Amino acid sequence: MSALHVKVQANMTNQWDAVQYDAKHAFVYEKAKGLVELLAPKPGERILDLGCGTGALTAEIAEGGAQILGVDQSEEMISQARKKFPALKFEVSDARELRFTAEFDAVFSNAVLHWIPEAEQVVSGVARALKPGGRFVAEFGGKGNIQRLVEGFHRAFSALRMEEPDGVSPWFYPSIAEYAELLERHGLELREASLFERPTVLEEGERGLENWIRQFRQTFIEKMGNENAQPWIQEVERQCRSDLFRDGSWELDYRRLRIAAWKG
Ligand code: BEZ
Repeated sequence: MSALHVKVQANMTNQWDAVQYDAKHAFVYEKAKGLVELLAPKPGERILDLGCGTGALTAEIAEGGAQILGVDQSEEMISQARKKFPALKFEVSDARELRFTAEFDAVFSNAVLHWIPEAEQVVSGVARALKPGGRFVAEFGGKGNIQRLVEGFHRAFSALRMEEPDGVSPWFYPSIAEYAELLERHGLELREASLFERPTVLEEGERGLENWIRQFRQTFIEKMGNENAQPWIQEVERQCRSDLFRDGSWELDYRRLRIAAWKG
């Protein structure tokens, strides 16, 4: 699989800023085309798009005639989605607290579930939301995602003799086996799963990694304070350079877990 290019912008005040998301993160949904094909939405089906962001994939799924509801925890994202796609239904909803019972033929989710460590609550809500025979199609970071980067985070703390704060790697990156077991506990049978590399080239050359860290680890960086964060980021760059910097750009070791599971 060829490398994916990502542009991130430093010093964003809101990681989930909806306009920035559309401007800088179109790759998140552009790379998910194959996932919509795996979902194979049919006209008239009721589908839930879990973590719909600003609605690009929700709209693509709706084009085939499915009745889709997009939900996202972020009010900004939902407000932007409503503006962009006024004919579609969107609501603010927390993936850990889904309130639906046997309403959907399918639940779809792209690039969201790795942000939610409470995976048991999510899968339980998804299973409840599906009609019998319904399907859950999702893609997110899988086991080993950004592992070399996270190892670089740890080595940088140790090289600087800094005490490592909690929450260095707060994400949920399960293996196929772990996720299969979780799904089965909630009555969902895993029928398709793949864990694959998606090397991701960061834009802006040398600045790419610092931009990424400041954007996606924003709260963590704020907790450290800028006087500690700056030398730590420089040390992360030093520690990761031989693994993750090539031909003038940083290339992160993203890995994706793609699944399709059915409710009995
Ligand atoms: C990911 O898409 O795998 C990801 C994005 C931001 C932070 C961590 C992981």
